[in-house]
Amino acid sequence: MNQAFLFRKDGFTGEEKELLLNETLFHNANGYFGVRGNFEEGYPKDMPTIRGQYINGFYNFSEMKQPEKHYGFPEQKQTMVNTFDTQTVIVTVENERVDLFQGKVLEFTRILDMKKGITNRRFVWESPEGRQVEISVTRMASFENLPLFTMEYRITPLNFSGTAQIQSVHSGDVSNYFNPKDSRVAGEKIIHLRVAEREITKEGFSRIRSETLKSGLEIASMTAHVLSEEAFSETQVGEKEITRIFTLQLRKGDCATIVKYTITCDSIRYPDVRSAAEELIRTCLGRPLDYWYQCQEDYLTKFWNQAEVEITGDEELNLSLHYNLYQLLQSVGKDRYCNIGAKGLSGEGYEGHYFWDTEMYIVPFFSLTWPEMARNLLSYRYQILDRARANARVMGYPKGALYPWRTINGDECSGYYPSGSAQYHINGDISYAVVQYYLITNDWDFMVSKGAEILIETARMWYDLGNFYQGSFQLHDLTGPDEYSCVVNNNYYTNLTAKHNLIWAAKVYRKLKEQGQLGLLEEKIGIEEDEISGFEQAAEDMLLLYDEKLDINPQDDSFLSKKEWDFSQKARGNGPIMQWNHLYRLYRHQVCKQADTVLAHMIFEDAQKLSTMEHSFDYYEKRTTHDSSLSRCIFGIMASRLGRKEKAYEYFDFSSKLDILDSQHNTKDGIHTANMGGTYMGIVYGFLGLRIKENGFFFMPSIPKQWTCCRLRLELRESLVEITVTKDVCCFRLIQGMPVTIFVYGREYQIKTEVKIPLEEW
Ligand code: BGC
Repeated sequence: MNQAFLFRKDGFTGEEKELLLNETLFHNANGYFGVRGNFEEGYPKDMPTIRGQYINGFYNFSEMKQPEKHYGFPEQKQTMVNTFDTQTVIVTVENERVDLFQGKVLEFTRILDMKKGITNRRFVWESPEGRQVEISVTRMASFENLPLFTMEYRITPLNFSGTAQIQSVHSGDVSNYFNPKDSRVAGEKIIHLRVAEREITKEGFSRIRSETLKSGLEIASMTAHVLSEEAFSETQVGEKEITRIFTLQLRKGDCATIVKYTITCDSIRYPDVRSAAEELIRTCLGRPLDYWYQCQEDYLTKFWNQAEVEITGDEELNLSLHYNLYQLLQSVGKDRYCNIGAKGLSGEGYEGHYFWDTEMYIVPFFSLTWPEMARNLLSYRYQILDRARANARVMGYPKGALYPWRTINGDECSGYYPSGSAQYHINGDISYAVVQYYLITNDWDFMVSKGAEILIETARMWYDLGNFYQGSFQLHDLTGPDEYSCVVNNNYYTNLTAKHNLIWAAKVYRKLKEQGQLGLLEEKIGIEEDEISGFEQAAEDMLLLYDEKLDINPQDDSFLSKKEWDFSQKARGNGPIMQWNHLYRLYRHQVCKQADTVLAHMIFEDAQKLSTMEHSFDYYEKRTTHDSSLSRCIFGIMASRLGRKEKAYEYFDFSSKLDILDSQHNTKDGIHTANMGGTYMGIVYGFLGLRIKENGFFFMPSIPKQWTCCRLRLELRESLVEITVTKDVCCFRLIQGMPVTIFVYGREYQIKTEVKIPLEEW
């Protein structure tokens, strides 16, 4: 087995921190649902755990109490709901309950096998009375059959024969995690669901149907069990849970297996959740478990064939990269009803919300490896365009659309507007991703059917928001990516993304018109020629701040005049500095939470001189805390492009292991999906130096000195190209599709079969 596909942890400490972290790291998900890697047998009463099973896009509303009532401030938010618990399996051997916190744990290993798409937890436990038993639990969130979750529970008595009792629980009595001291998770306990029905069918399947208390959604879950041995079975039906109890005889050295199938259907996707779940569970049981395992492996073979990044020379890093890409696949929504949460489906951080993280950090990976997924992500934005139009009206724009900063169903969920709703750059980010997706895939159909409308509606908002003043077009009182400088004028990043948005809205409009494809759109949203020339004028006059003396782009028009931050102040704890500094103090200083201008330089390198990017990098690097996980990967890419190789590697190394090592100290609340996408960009946009422009794909390949080889595949305009970079040569090989034109170190090449280009120092 290639070790890059096997993430493994050995040993059991029983420490709270480690347990919570591993619940996240070993979660199972498939883009539709996610199950945290909790212990089936549970934990001692006082041990905190976040026991959760979530559905992507399935939410309840909860009140968002505004301390003061102001017009248009959102008063409710959506929360990704913890739906039910089918993880719980309690095993008793000869009247002793298997419990890792009693007796002795002799062996303990957790594995995530990224080729097979399963996790496994295996342990050998010695009971207080000396009985030794080996337990192995393999879990799978099926990619082939999205509602299906399986748990294969194997019990082997090692030094005794006797009776085992297995209690398998299906409970609707669940609630979400909260922590009043952390603004990144829910602050209070809220009941989101009501069990409406629970029953046991004549075949012995359990079914629970629950309803959200406010959002009017329903969910049905069903479980079924298949045992390898004869067993006596009983059922207990409680108010909110159903327990199946199996009693069987164990023989020393023989393994007994129980497979628990869970099916989940929600009312967003299934009009009749009850019967859909029943039908699906029958379909699943109609095939042996091995069939579903094989489907999982086949699906992953296809994924890795497109998306694998293979590094030779740094095994630890190679493994963490595989881990990150696998997590993106587990997290990404597979239909237009959902997207990809900041924490995927691995935990409750940010309450399951979708942010700009998707477009700026994750869409690039899928556009370049599995465009269908990127198209889904962008189609979700199209799906919520009406909500974005409604949001624009609330914010005072008679025309156009303003996307919510954070959301599940399309409505704004930001409680704190300075670093929430004021981040209008979300419009620019979504437009940027629509254009990049188009440039990578050449998918004009998407542009005609969805992209153009997104571009024009978002451009309308910029045009209305901005102001022509003394020869320039200015954008006031907005927040850029850096959340430690809020509600500022002419944030460089925001203005550049808005400019790009306006230019492309006009460009796509003109192309549609020229090709006679404007009809439907014009009918739907009524576009005037004047409006389009207005976009072009605004883009041309867009104010892009530049400080001649420092030769940098100021982050906004007040940033450089602010007080310097005292970076020698002692950290209190591990978290971001906002946890022990009043936000207003941060706003008044030159201190950044994350890449802002540096990100603008990464995506729009032609907008300023090289020296300005170099000076800006140095300037902002000194003033950035990287308190957001979205930051280091961008600094790494820019360091790499500016030829600062050691630094680039340090940033890259940090961000690629961020979750595995829990470097941000909050992985217990979920993985950091944007950073995971960022590490991929670190390779493709950083080390390979790819720039995607209107006139082609431009590479500037290099290889860090720590590696001997880097190999990956990119899907460029429907052609699959394999790129292998070694110490002295870069080889481009056409795997599938039509020949592709690329530029390497500025020279043009046609990839018909294979092209080898010596590496250049730059
Ligand atoms: C960052 C945002 C990001 C959000 C979700 C925040 O800490 O500042 O840029 O969108 O986390 O990942």
